[in-house]
Amino acid sequence: MTGATAAKIWGVAGCQVVELRSHSDARGGMTFVENGRDLPFDIARMYWLYGSQPGQLRGAHAHKALRQLYVAVAGRCEVVLRDPESSQRVVLDRPDRGLLLGPMVWRQVENISHDAVLLVAASEPYCEDDYLRDFAAYLAAARVQ
Ligand code: TYD
Repeated sequence: MTGATAAKIWGVAGCQVVELRSHSDARGGMTFVENGRDLPFDIARMYWLYGSQPGQLRGAHAHKALRQLYVAVAGRCEVVLRDPESSQRVVLDRPDRGLLLGPMVWRQVENISHDAVLLVAASEPYCEDDYLRDFAAYLAAARVQ
């Protein structure tokens, strides 16, 4: 990964905030992500969350193998990351900053502003079998890794 710059790395396995390559001039800003350059995975899928209602939570699951990049391209949200040893709350409120999530990390998205658009780039196509949606089952699986 030579493009994006790791801003912060914590104890939560495989997760870090990255400053994404950007260009800004008198016309405004632009942020870019390229396979083979900016991420530790190639993008197989993108989706985005929007129109969140007040108090609504998203996520509350882990993925067995999936890697993801979260970017709040508009608005603001908080992502609570957990693994068996640690937890971390990350505020996403800039379109030029991303959160990389590794496999086997429990995540919950909270305090989502109504105008938030949370862009997600993912390393694999959608696969329900890759989800761990029960926290106790997630902890048991993560502890034996
Ligand atoms: P889910 O990942 O459970 O969203 P959240 O964690 O925010 O609640 O996805 C909600 C539903 O959307 C899920 O039942 C299946 C569907 N879905 C797809 O079909 N393709 C996708 O790429 C994603 C992310 C979800």
